[in-house]
Amino acid sequence: MPGTCVIGLQWGDEAKGKLVDILTEHHDIVVRYQGGANAGHTVVSGGETWKLSLIPSGILRDGVTCVVTGGVVLDPAAVLREIDMLEGRGVTVGSKLLLSDRAHVVFPWHVAEDRLLDASLSGGEPIGTTGRGIGPCYRDKVGRAMAIRLGDLYRADFPATLRHVVALKQRFLAGGGPAAVPLDADAILADMRRMAARLGPHVRDTTAYLLDAVEAGRRVLFEGAQGTLLDVDHGTYPFVTSSNSSGLGVGPGSGVPARWIDRSIGVVKAYSTRVGGGPLPTEQDNAIGIHLRERGNEYGTVTRRPRRCGWFDAVAARYAARLSGVDELAVMLLDVLGGLDQISICTAYEIDGRRTTDFPSHVDDLRRARPVYETLPGWHEDLSVIREQVGLPGAAQRYVERIAALLGRPVRIVSVGPDRAQTVFRDGDGDARGPAEGGGLPWPRQPAPVRA
Ligand code: GDP
Ligand code: IMO
Ligand code: MG
Repeated sequence: MPGTCVIGLQWGDEAKGKLVDILTEHHDIVVRYQGGANAGHTVVSGGETWKLSLIPSGILRDGVTCVVTGGVVLDPAAVLREIDMLEGRGVTVGSKLLLSDRAHVVFPWHVAEDRLLDASLSGGEPIGTTGRGIGPCYRDKVGRAMAIRLGDLYRADFPATLRHVVALKQRFLAGGGPAAVPLDADAILADMRRMAARLGPHVRDTTAYLLDAVEAGRRVLFEGAQGTLLDVDHGTYPFVTSSNSSGLGVGPGSGVPARWIDRSIGVVKAYSTRVGGGPLPTEQDNAIGIHLRERGNEYGTVTRRPRRCGWFDAVAARYAARLSGVDELAVMLLDVLGGLDQISICTAYEIDGRRTTDFPSHVDDLRRARPVYETLPGWHEDLSVIREQVGLPGAAQRYVERIAALLGRPVRIVSVGPDRAQTVFRDGDGDARGPAEGGGLPWPRQPAPVRA
């Protein structure tokens, strides 16, 4: 069975990029299948830091093909900037990168709309989007009347289509006040043609390519962007992104049915972070939050906004693990918790006096959720130098095992620093205890994966 997917189980920035880079070694193809230039994935290797946004984090390894599928909303200027950055630093992109002709194109008007609309949604509290035009582009994709796909840029009727869409957009954006951007169809057309010419060699039907690949037994790694709790259907709506950023999005985004995926890895930070608006029940607006932000360098990869920080929320992460259907966990940034005498984990919420381990479907209920904490001893050792499971201090081991028990999945990977090398692989699944064995919240055992 050829497919592995890496899915964030929180609100993004779980260090998926680092994990994908490591796992790429065992795969032939790495796939980005949803989201767009809102993602910022970091890979650190040999003292060099790489920040990737649209191009899969597998691009840094030789002999791997990187595919951006039709589920992605693609800003041509952002892809070209990334290609130039990589080539400028000695990474050959060339034929390693394939872009779907079905991917919807992010145009300048999407970025303008994103900035205009964010403040006026959701009862006054802005979502705090990344401002990359993601929501408006997905809205046009679903709306169909004003959408243009990457493959359309190469068609003879593209100039006419673009002029038609610009005329419609001008009417829709006209009421936008001083922030409204005048759209110059000729200038946009010229820009798009120039960029399309450069991107042309990468563009193809990636659905057909990936179906051929899985049927031929090639090993494919699916790189999730954002995190499960930002999923448009199952996350903390409306404080979400505009795609299915949970594990549920792999099939629709890539065109590869779930039956080809035999390993799903849920990625969590050892604590919680969130950028932008929306509830974060375990947020620590105090010295703990500052400790996490400063030790974890919790500033947005894309926007440099300070990330909101708090304790690990096992209620939210367990919901995410079930929803995304992950079989195992990777716990990242464990080193950041070093130096704390005690560490808390949220194991339940109290909502209007009622205790629950269910994750609420309405954001207002989540706002009222008061976390119920369990406290574990911390550690003061420097984890960043540790490479073997046995080297982890007892308190750190117990913390990781508690996460496994609460989420009902084994922790196979622990990350203790940003570098590729700062990774501990764990074996055995004795730590994935259900409640009967004295473990955490009730959870059903994963059914065996469907075999092709
Ligand atoms: P992604 O969006 O999920 O790929 O995550 P980001 O790259 O946005 O954010 C993760 C940040 O944590 C990056 O700056 C990584 O270099 C860094 N990082 C990854 N793993 C570790 C770790 O184990 N420890 C520490 N201290 N930093 C890490
Ligand atoms: P990676 O892949 C963290 C957040 C934004 C905002 C909300 C909607 O690096 O984990 P959008 O621009 O998508 O319409 O913004 O989603 N957001 C992310 N937060 N990591 C990300 O990606 C994110 N992508 C979007 O901050 O709250
Ligand atoms: Mg990120």
